[in-house]
Amino acid sequence: MDKTIQEAVKILENGGLVAIPTETVYGLAADAENPEAVAKIYAAKKRPTNHPLIVHVADALCLTDWAREVPESAIKLTNAFWPGPLTIVLKRSKRAKDFVTGGQDTVALRCPAHPITHELLKAFDNGRSRGLAAPSANSFGKISPSLAQHVKEDLGLKPEGSVDMIIDGGPCDVGIESSILDLTCNPPRLLREGAVTGDMISQVIGEPVLHGINNLSPRVPGTLKSHYAPNHPLELVKAEDLAGKAQFLARHFKSFALIAPGKLGRRFSPISEKAFVYEDTNDLQVNLYDWLHQLDKTGAEVILVVPPEYSDKSAGVLDRLARAAAPKKL
Ligand code: TXA
Ligand code: MG
Repeated sequence: MDKTIQEAVKILENGGLVAIPTETVYGLAADAENPEAVAKIYAAKKRPTNHPLIVHVADALCLTDWAREVPESAIKLTNAFWPGPLTIVLKRSKRAKDFVTGGQDTVALRCPAHPITHELLKAFDNGRSRGLAAPSANSFGKISPSLAQHVKEDLGLKPEGSVDMIIDGGPCDVGIESSILDLTCNPPRLLREGAVTGDMISQVIGEPVLHGINNLSPRVPGTLKSHYAPNHPLELVKAEDLAGKAQFLARHFKSFALIAPGKLGRRFSPISEKAFVYEDTNDLQVNLYDWLHQLDKTGAEVILVVPPEYSDKSAGVLDRLARAAAPKKL
């Protein structure tokens, strides 16, 4: 076994915290069956303890250990999308304790695709279906990490920080958190949009899915209005309004940073403090969190973002942008 993985398994077995690369964002992992270890995750993130965590598993064989009911749709979906950026919510088994589910009768399960984390999960599981609880490795309410560097700067390594080990697996391929699908209701409900889209799910299960949360849905803090937020105010601007907005800011001696598509982005870069230009929705999705981390460090007073059009494919990135733009006070 690789030395890094061996070391990580040891830390996790001793109740420590390891920041892991996944294809979506970096996660802050602990043994999902160890209450003290899981408590350390909440403390490191300063996250309210009633917010449930996703349990990461090595493969779909673990479903029957963590869930007491595994519907046909769960089998079809895990066949199609695991390992990958889809989290499914099922009725929990006795193994999924209150300290990981936030006291809910359901458990969120995901099998990540990043090769290092996949290896780590297999080694940690070791034929016992053990799972890793792992939220995104950022302080509660802050921008999620898509690079190991983001985790170092936010949570940090011990002794100054709170993490025992950070595994650098390079930049995350997907760039935003996994899609979360609740399979305990009928029809299934997409609680958080992500790279596995509503249309992709419908095609596999042969029925439509509902979008968003309702009063009966379980709690998903990723759906609090202000989330994934930079420290600077972020404003969404339509392409046709960008010139007017830039003029207005100039008149008030205010500088701005910019994220905008292709030609438009290139036209306005010279008058912005710092700009990132995206070529398509995927380019924006993959780079969004790194760009926000970088723009947050500039002296600009506001971050302007010209978003892509709404589509099944852009729903995830538009959702994160809307939250980053939401007023910070809830
Ligand atoms: O891509 C991802 O999902 C990343 C990587 C690290 O795997 N993880 C992640 O975790 O985004 P976190 O904790 O930042 O967001 C997990 C979301 C939370 O909004 C939580 O409320 C929801 O999953 N969740 C967890 N258990 C749930 C459950 N039983 N029912 C409904 N939502 C649940
Ligand atoms: Mg998060």
